[in-house]
Amino acid sequence: MANQNKFSLPRGTADILPQEVRLWQDIEAKARSLFDLYHYQEIRTPVFEETELFARSMGATSDVVQKQMLTLQPNQREGESGQSSKIFSLRPEGTASVVRSYIENSLDRKEALTKLFYIGPMFRGERPQKGRLRQFYQIGVEAIGPNSASPYLDAEIMGLSVALLKAFGVKDHVLKINTLGSLEDKQNVSTVLREMIGDQKASLCPTCQQRLDRNVFRVLDCKNQECQKIVAGLKLGVSLLSQQSQEYYAQVKKALGLLGVSFQEVPTLVRGLDYYTQVVFEITSPSLGSQDALGAGGRYNGLVQELGGSEGVDAVGFSLGMERIILARQAVPEPQARGVDVFVAPIDDKAFESAFQIMNTLRQQGLASDMSYKTASLKSQMRLADKLSARYVCILGEDEMNQNAVTLKDMTTGSQEKISREEIVEKIKKLVLT
Ligand code: HAM
Repeated sequence: MANQNKFSLPRGTADILPQEVRLWQDIEAKARSLFDLYHYQEIRTPVFEETELFARSMGATSDVVQKQMLTLQPNQREGESGQSSKIFSLRPEGTASVVRSYIENSLDRKEALTKLFYIGPMFRGERPQKGRLRQFYQIGVEAIGPNSASPYLDAEIMGLSVALLKAFGVKDHVLKINTLGSLEDKQNVSTVLREMIGDQKASLCPTCQQRLDRNVFRVLDCKNQECQKIVAGLKLGVSLLSQQSQEYYAQVKKALGLLGVSFQEVPTLVRGLDYYTQVVFEITSPSLGSQDALGAGGRYNGLVQELGGSEGVDAVGFSLGMERIILARQAVPEPQARGVDVFVAPIDDKAFESAFQIMNTLRQQGLASDMSYKTASLKSQMRLADKLSARYVCILGEDEMNQNAVTLKDMTTGSQEKISREEIVEKIKKLVLT
């Protein structure tokens, strides 16, 4: 009976408790300082958007849109009042939302190239397993601008994703790259692929038999052994693409060389989302098991127009999965919390209110302070101060109250001295902050 009232964590989500949160904050702080260096600015968009936005961008036939959307209950009231009621879903990724915001806020008129980053939760109704959650966090960047495609920018984006992973302490990672060519190339290649694979359709897995018509590129990265055998026999490669796309790809690789970023070319790397054109990439870690992608991205030149923006706006970006970063990073010492500078310990009820005020003043002066919020024996308060690793304890007893003073105990040396109330802040500030 009692258990019926207990709630538990939804499947595929995680509580990040204070001890672990420090690690997350550390990763976020490192990301933010690198984004400053590369001049990317933060954008925050809502965690839900119109479902149609995701279907139009990621592709109606993509696995994410077909199977993993977490769609909100339609708003009954809106429907009742006769307004058209829109369907909303929790965002499965950040790119579509950023592009929606870019168009809606006419960011193309503000600067030639808008370089944005985001850090936040994404939601996909996947079958949970190690490294695969229903709510997970991404650190992502998107660089969008009219006629902004440049192989140097593609290389910078990939270089930045690698620099981030290095800063986080993930050493064991491989950057895999490929090119899909322009939108036109993609159409041509899909026709060629259908011809190449078509007569072996019966040997493909049932999913790939459907993919053959709907999105033949996805056959290339199917995990099924039979499909992989068929793919291994295909003549893939840049020769299927236009001269221009081939040159672009060659320039990106050269620019990666200029940055000293090593990479592996993988002609079967196609990505599961429809919006990509030209260069795509994925960063994997062998230490992660089956969910080995730490992050991924690529160029998506047609998406701004597809979502109602101007023609000719080019874009490139990537996102890294934070949970996977944490799983893959080598043992790095955990960042320590700031800790308590001063623990304020009133000995009895009479001293309590003064102690409470002193604590407030200390905080206003930039000193991290804490107390036990109920009167307790000095012994138990000292135990708590010790547990909180307080550097000083400010004791208020009867004598101190009578003399308008406090006793300041240095927890490192054990020495203590009585100081007047007026001096407390200056004295402690000098000790702690210098
Ligand atoms: P994505 O490959 O779908 O791309 O996701 C990027 C990364 O997010 C993955 O490599 C993985 O680390 C993490 N991730 C994805 N799904 C899950 C999950 N269920 N649980 C844990 N981690 C997950 C995108 O989302 C694109 N928006 C990337 C992009 C940005 N392309 C251009 N700009």
